[in-house]
Amino acid sequence: MVLLHPQVTLIPSASADAESPNQQILPLTADVTASGSLMVGGCEVVELVRQFGSPLYILDEATVRAAARQYRQSFAQFYPGEVQVLYASKAWSCLAVCAIAASEGLGIDVVSGGELQTALQAGVPAANIYFHGNNKSQGELALAVQQGCTLIADNWLELEQIAEQAGQNGQRPRVMIRITPGIECHTHEYIRTGHLDSKFGFDPDQLSDVLVFAQAHPELDWIGFHAHIGSQIFELKPHQDLTQVIVDWLVQAQQVGLPMQELNVGGGLGIRYVETDNPPSIAAWVKVICEGIVNACAAVNLPLPKLLCEPGRSLIGSACVTAYRVGSRKHIPNLRTYVSVDGGMSDNPRPITYQSQYSAVVANRMHDPTQEIVTVAGKHCESGDILLKDISLPQTQPGDILTVFGTGAYNYSMASNYNRLPRPAAVLVQDGHAELMIERETYTDLLRQDRLPARLVR
Ligand code: LLP
Repeated sequence: MVLLHPQVTLIPSASADAESPNQQILPLTADVTASGSLMVGGCEVVELVRQFGSPLYILDEATVRAAARQYRQSFAQFYPGEVQVLYASKAWSCLAVCAIAASEGLGIDVVSGGELQTALQAGVPAANIYFHGNNKSQGELALAVQQGCTLIADNWLELEQIAEQAGQNGQRPRVMIRITPGIECHTHEYIRTGHLDSKFGFDPDQLSDVLVFAQAHPELDWIGFHAHIGSQIFELKPHQDLTQVIVDWLVQAQQVGLPMQELNVGGGLGIRYVETDNPPSIAAWVKVICEGIVNACAAVNLPLPKLLCEPGRSLIGSACVTAYRVGSRKHIPNLRTYVSVDGGMSDNPRPITYQSQYSAVVANRMHDPTQEIVTVAGKHCESGDILLKDISLPQTQPGDILTVFGTGAYNYSMASNYNRLPRPAAVLVQDGHAELMIERETYTDLLRQDRLPARLVR
């Protein structure tokens, strides 16, 4: 093993599995210069901060592309039927990321008009956009239907509204039915969706009624079923169970004369944030899904459906690091040392929301020995604004560049302006080149939507 830093170990890339980006804490291109400076995508993190400021999201294009290719290549290896991998853009929706995903042949899963517009403007063909959500507005539905996206129908109200839209403009929207599969998995309760007490999708008991509705509405193109069991999942068994359940729904549809042909098994594969995390590789996950679907179809003599999945975190999570400048320090004898950085819960709300753990290094002191255990705090006016608790770091000085790994998924997309902090910039790095993909917000941006009612003007 190559010891990159006492806290973060580079996994040797001896086998294909070892290179699965979701199993690595660091982006695949991470390296260290002779002088002990962290590099990502051939760029020195310290230099990037000098050029683009901090906090800074640094996205390694090679890692995103490697993950996308591993999904596609694994499906080609394990599934003898048609496949479409979608990128769940809720993980990070912006033009550059959608464009990279599309250039790797991925479709895009969107959950709002905003994500839909982003995918469209990134040049993703509407035919490859799948629209989810448990409460799509009439406007969002109209936009999706008019563009020709596939709709993942979540509830009765929506089914009626899609049927109405189809009636009005003569289009025949492609509709998938989302059903809660009733599968439990071990992940944070906020990000579990496959158990029965979930706000998403139809209950399995409602399937026969939905099929009656489908038969009565030939103006809609009923293409198949969707299920998603949760996120940051390390077990393969729940996904294996899902394949059986979801093929059963196809059988039931066929029995009432609705030959649907697509199955979407959702996303959910976890990533390694800290050394004790041990997610399966992308290839292992895909293999379980494919074998499950193939076997379940063979058992009931069903032709293989077109298979879709929609990973978010495992495609983008490990590809990004966030670089912060170290600032003040507070030492409480016999208790704790707080080291504060210039971002926090506004650029990464996951620790305060889900108690998520991360790994971090000091990018300009990669060869320094670790000397102390500290708690890295954000700069927000909130005691819970802690990014990393009790991590061992070299002795830091103000101005050092603390770099947190695994921040590609659900960081920028969940970022806020809490305490009126401008959202950070994001740069895309590859082969030593860095290009801005999201500009840093300015105070003008923060005030753009503010209006001062006339009677308050002084
Ligand atoms: N498909 C559907 C219908 C989903 O709801 C999700 C995630 C995905 C796909 C992608 O799942 P992934 O491959 O990323 O696990 N904010 C939380 C995660 C929420 C996940 C929401 N749905 C977090 O930061 O952990």
